[in-house]
Amino acid sequence: MKGIILAGGNGSRLSPLTTCVSKQLLPVYDKPMIYYPLSTMMLAGIREILLISNPEHLGAFQKLLGNGSSWGMQIEYLPQSTPRGLADAFLIGEDFIQNQPCSLILGDNIFYGSGLVEKVQDAAKVVNGAFIFAYPVKDPQRFGIVEFDDKFNAISLEEKPQHPRSNYAIPGLYFYDSQVTQFAKQVKPSKRGEIEITDINRMYLEQGNLHVSVFGRGMAWLDAGTPESLLQAANFIQAVEDRQGFLISHPDEIAYRMKFIDEEQFKFNIQKTVNPSLKSYLLSLL
Ligand code: TTP
Repeated sequence: MKGIILAGGNGSRLSPLTTCVSKQLLPVYDKPMIYYPLSTMMLAGIREILLISNPEHLGAFQKLLGNGSSWGMQIEYLPQSTPRGLADAFLIGEDFIQNQPCSLILGDNIFYGSGLVEKVQDAAKVVNGAFIFAYPVKDPQRFGIVEFDDKFNAISLEEKPQHPRSNYAIPGLYFYDSQVTQFAKQVKPSKRGEIEITDINRMYLEQGNLHVSVFGRGMAWLDAGTPESLLQAANFIQAVEDRQGFLISHPDEIAYRMKFIDEEQFKFNIQKTVNPSLKSYLLSLL
C-alpha cells in the first residue's frame, strides 16, 4: 500500500496566515501540521509516501521531511498547480502509484485516539475495493455523509445533504485498491469545478465494493482549516500531551516504534535533534 498526502489547496479560510506559509506547515501546538497526517500513514504501516502541494511550497516540505530515509521511508514530492480537487491526487500520482493499492490523507486532517492503529492497519490490507471511515457528527449537513448496512458496506453517499440519511461524516482518509487511478481518470468536474473524491467512492459503491470502518467516540478527528479549529486542535494536543507525557504524532518516535528504523538510526536521529526537551523525550524511549 502506498500513500499520498494532499497538502495543497488555497487555505483561504486561514488567510493571511497562509499568504506566505502553506497551511499544512502551520504549527499545531508543538509540531507542523503535516506531522499528523504523516504519522497516521506511518501507523498504518505505509512507508512509501507521495506529498503533493502547491509548487511554491514544495521546497519547504522537502526541507522539513527530506527523502524519508532517516525514518526508514521513501518520501517523494510532486506539485499541484491549482487545487483541482481531491481526486486529482491519483492523476498527479499515477506514476508513483504504478497500479498498486493506494491511500490518501488530507494534509489538514488530524486523527488521534483509541483503536486508530488497528483500524488503519486493517484498511491498509485492502486488495479488493475501498475503505472509507465514518465518524459521527452532530451537524451532518456540513459534511460528506455515508450510510451503511449491518455488514459495514456503504449504501449511499451524500454531499452536504439538507436531509441526511445518516449522521456519519466521511473523514479525509481513504484506502483504495489498484483500480483507483483508472477510476480517477473517469471523474468529470463537478458544479463547483473540482474533480471530487466522492465520485471515486461512488464508483466503488456501484461495484458493491465500498467498505466502511466506523470510528467510535474514543477517536478524535480534527481538521485544522479555520482559525477556530486550528486553535482547538492545538489545545487538544497540548492537553493530552501535557497530561500523559507522551508526544502525539512525532515521526521519529513512530518510525522507531513501528520498527521502520533500528536503534542505531534512532540514536542518530536523537543526536541531530536540536530542541533539548524533545531530545530528552526521545532519549527516554530508548
Ligand atoms: P479544503 O479544506 O477543501 O480547501 P483549502 O485547504 O484550500 O482551504 P480553504 O477552503 O480555506 O481555501 O482542502 C482540504 C485539504 O485538501 C487541504 O489539506 C488542502 C487539500 N487540497 C489539495 O491539496 N488540493 C486540492 O485540489 C484540494 C481541493 C484540496
